[in-house]
Amino acid sequence: MSGHSLAIVGATGAVGLKLLQVIDERVKEVKSLRLFASSRSAGQKLTFRGKEITVEDVAKSDFKGVDVAFFSAGTEASLEYCPKAVKDGAIVIDNTNAHRMNKDVPLIVPEANFHALKKEHRLIANPNCSTIQMIVALAPIHRVNPIKRIVVSTYQSVSGTGLEAIDILKRQSKAILENTEIPQGVYPHTIGFNLIPQIDVFLPESGLYREEEKMVRETQKILESDVKVCPTTVRVPVMYAHSESVNIELTNKMTLDEVRAVLSKAEDVVLLDDPANSVYPTPFECQNKDEVFVGRLRNDPTVPVGFNMWVVADNLRRGAATNAVKIYTEMVKHGLI
Ligand code: A2P
Repeated sequence: MSGHSLAIVGATGAVGLKLLQVIDERVKEVKSLRLFASSRSAGQKLTFRGKEITVEDVAKSDFKGVDVAFFSAGTEASLEYCPKAVKDGAIVIDNTNAHRMNKDVPLIVPEANFHALKKEHRLIANPNCSTIQMIVALAPIHRVNPIKRIVVSTYQSVSGTGLEAIDILKRQSKAILENTEIPQGVYPHTIGFNLIPQIDVFLPESGLYREEEKMVRETQKILESDVKVCPTTVRVPVMYAHSESVNIELTNKMTLDEVRAVLSKAEDVVLLDDPANSVYPTPFECQNKDEVFVGRLRNDPTVPVGFNMWVVADNLRRGAATNAVKIYTEMVKHGLI
């Protein structure tokens, strides 16, 4: 059978299950597929193309014979098992924060910086979900007119935290509507009918939460630029898809029509921008899609050359699984594997 032997580590999680779906949709030939998780779900069966696959405990397995392993089991698991997978001969596409800022690891958004991925790379990092969708929208503009500064506020859905977070949002919302005791967990505050301006841990030196720091450092690495990035990341009671209010300041003169023309031709970007008729992307309508949707495109009159936009994408697909699978399919297309 042609194709490659693939593996998903964290297969039972929110991103892992999405990887299973996106591989099915986007990869024509799969020689074999192995699924890994922790001992908690070892033995569980998941279905791929009509066949049941038993989930293996990653701690008790090896990666011999695996060509490409997709990791989405959290940073700790990636730190422990990515090197092992590489040692066993697999190419690793890691969806966690474990290796993203390692200078020997390319951090890839295929539409923006596929050129940074070379044949000798065995470990490749998938950026953070909120970075990916912003980069897909901004890289085409940055290519023609370098971005000097980005101010971004995110509205991030709970699915970015994992299956447990989807469950707590459902249970808290139900409890609030039924006026019963609100269950707690996953987040430091109730997320049902609320907003939490904290994603990941606090970094006292900068005053940022780690998600914000990721957006700064990952954006600079991917764009190969010292662009200034000023982020505020917020968890919102939305199940799927992240939204972002993005403000950019550019180096050279550019009109709104020129920006619109660049975005309308950009790969995987869809302009939904007719504000007079209430046409703009919303997270509910962008779930289960692979593109990045842009609306509310307008001038920022407070700086010499600046623009505002509203950017929405499905965080589990475009912000995770689809980006990872696209890295793999582009590697195949360019003969890097
Ligand atoms: P498990 O189901 O066995 O706990 P989510 O992001 O939705 O919370 O999912 C996380 C995924 O990562 C799950 O598949 C989970 O497996 C897996 N996982 C978490 N920690 C580990 C670990 N230490 N080793 C292997 N898999 C892990």
